[in-house]
Amino acid sequence: MSIVHVMDHPLIQHKVSLMRDKETGSKEFRELLSEISMLMAYEVTRDLPLKTVEIETPICRAQTQVIAGKKLAIVPILRAGLGMVDGIMKLVPAAKVGHIGLYRDPNTLEPVEYYCKLPADVEERELLVVDPMLATGGSASAAIGFIKKRGGKAIKLVCLIAAPEGVRRVQKDHPDVDIFVAAMDEKLNDHGYIIPGLGDAGDRLFGTR
Ligand code: PRP
Ligand code: URA
Repeated sequence: MSIVHVMDHPLIQHKVSLMRDKETGSKEFRELLSEISMLMAYEVTRDLPLKTVEIETPICRAQTQVIAGKKLAIVPILRAGLGMVDGIMKLVPAAKVGHIGLYRDPNTLEPVEYYCKLPADVEERELLVVDPMLATGGSASAAIGFIKKRGGKAIKLVCLIAAPEGVRRVQKDHPDVDIFVAAMDEKLNDHGYIIPGLGDAGDRLFGTR
């Protein structure tokens, strides 16, 4: 069974609360999502392997550590996942970015794929699938399934707010994928929205609706 990491750092919690507030406009919402994503990336990348290299400081030669092994790729689930990319890229600027376009059919709540472009060497990379909202889990589970079908192996899911239903779905479908969230909310409402949540993340990010 995968591990669920809830990032309860005070800065993250404070910023999530600002994002939940319905009076927060798109500009501030985007900035907050970017900042939280950067803070989450710090923890999500904690287990990256290191290797020792020799360098020369102004004083002497020294053995120091740099990141080794798997290279990273960030895979936002469109649209709302896009809002998490630049914050993570601030910490890992060399990461590649893949894109998966999915929307949730408002009637069936089932995910529909409309776009997929991943790095050519997807099977060699550690992949961070990012989406602010994990509601029923249908979108994240389908996205991870598409990535695996195209060769992806080492996958982590990074979300801002999750409902227990979504976490259970991803854990059941993808027991190998650890999940990182900033907040675990209570449940879903009858329309599949997270309670208390923050509303429709894509619409709030991009000012649509
Ligand atoms: C939202 C959100 C997730 C999905 C979560 O996207 O960004 O991708 O819903 O719901 P689920 O866990 O029940 O699948 P949406 O389908 O609204 O598309 P958008 O990002 O383009 O607005
Ligand atoms: N998608 C969103 O954007 N918000 C929710 O609460 C659920 C799904």
